[in-house]
Amino acid sequence: MVDSVFSDIPVQYANIAKATKAIEFNMASDMQTGSLLKTLVASKPSGRILELGTGTGLATSWILDGMDDRTRLTTIDNNELLLDIGRAALPDARVEFVLADGYAWIKNYSGEKFDMIFADAMPGKYDLFEETIRLVKEGGFYVIDDMLPQPNWPQGHSEKVESFIGDLEKRNDVALTKLNWSTGIIIVTKIK
Ligand SMILES: C[S@@+](CC[C@H](N)C(=O)[O-])C[C@H]1O[C@@H](n2cnc3c(N)ncnc32)[C@H](O)[C@@H]1O
Repeated sequence: MVDSVFSDIPVQYANIAKATKAIEFNMASDMQTGSLLKTLVASKPSGRILELGTGTGLATSWILDGMDDRTRLTTIDNNELLLDIGRAALPDARVEFVLADGYAWIKNYSGEKFDMIFADAMPGKYDLFEETIRLVKEGGFYVIDDMLPQPNWPQGHSEKVESFIGDLEKRNDVALTKLNWSTGIIIVTKIK
């Protein structure tokens, strides 16, 4: 099995990747993560999906590819330049691109819970985690990447990651699997 060969890359992916490279954005999610997100979201027909940290929309394109017609995605970033690349490349009525500070958005959100949250920004992952996991439906997924050491990690981040994983493992309201694959993924399922 070769897990770096993908037969189902979203059609918009190449354009977004080109724009991402042009602006030298180096925090994009990789293809393995994207493919996994597509696979997971496909298990949630008529689902409500949240992505925290749109970036230029690379992972967004995979998520949209896995969604059925009735599923809706909200994706949030506080960087207009990045968000606009995704918005322009993915004109799709099922997705709402939200330019907002994730901290404020999470604190103020009072709508329906989500069937899957892909948390790829500080808010919703290392910060405001309790507020965010509360937004996942029972049986829903909370997915994080970049759990293995990355070249762009600032000093001290490694300890933060270890402590975050330790806290996750102590919880009794989730089932989780750590994947030493891609950039280091944890799939969390909310069980109560
Ligand atoms: C790791 S990147 C996301 C990459 C994206 N998943 C992709 O596939 O390209 C993290 C993103 O979080 C955004 N971000 C950082 N702080 C934020 C905040 N306070 N509120 C909203 N977005 C934030 C950054 O602008 C960046 O685009």
